[in-house]
Amino acid sequence: MNYITSFSTRLRIKLHLVNDLEKNDNIIPALLEQNAPLWFKNYLIVTYSIMCSSVPLMKAAYEKCINQTTTTTTTEKKLMFDLGKYYKKHIEEEMNHDEWILDDLQSIGIPREESLSRKPSQAVAELVGSQYYWIYHWHPICLLGYIALLEGNPPTMNLIDRLQKLTGYPNTAFRTMVKHSNLDPHHRDELNELLEKLPLEKQHEEWITYNALYSANKLLEIRKQ
Ligand SMILES: [Fe+2]
Ligand SMILES: [Fe+2]
Repeated sequence: MNYITSFSTRLRIKLHLVNDLEKNDNIIPALLEQNAPLWFKNYLIVTYSIMCSSVPLMKAAYEKCINQTTTTTTTEKKLMFDLGKYYKKHIEEEMNHDEWILDDLQSIGIPREESLSRKPSQAVAELVGSQYYWIYHWHPICLLGYIALLEGNPPTMNLIDRLQKLTGYPNTAFRTMVKHSNLDPHHRDELNELLEKLPLEKQHEEWITYNALYSANKLLEIRKQ
């Protein structure tokens, strides 16, 4: 296999390009510099609103894989089997990560009830809602593009240190970020390996890529709000 032409490499390059273009457009929000504690609190609550749907989305995709009745070819059956296996394992790995964020928020004085009572934005509903559409009405493989995005760019310890200095918040506020800084590089590598192992046809690659790029742009929109 040619490394440069592997699907996972091409997908990662495209996702980096979307994020780099945005960086050039000054992604550091002014509010982060002006009122870092407020910015960070909002950041965590918005992250929660996205993360609380990660396991339910994968459960929906997993159900689709195991209940697929229209599969006709052996290749498609194998694809669904391997995909279902991945979702099953990853559901276990991601279980309760949304709860971690609520704990982090609580540690900086934001009660759980307050975090849960904030209505998520329309853009979050569009980002997550579109995943359900692709899973239920098209193909559960599309969700891989979304996962590739969300786990593809884990927070670095440098970024976490910077946020801690800017906000003045204790270590407890950054537990979820630190854990993902350690976990998500492995999750990203595992997904890359899966993308190389699955019997993907050109159309599958296009669906995954389209969803990854759509989701990347929608996430940038959410982060700018
Ligand atoms: Fe996670
Ligand atoms: Fe993860």
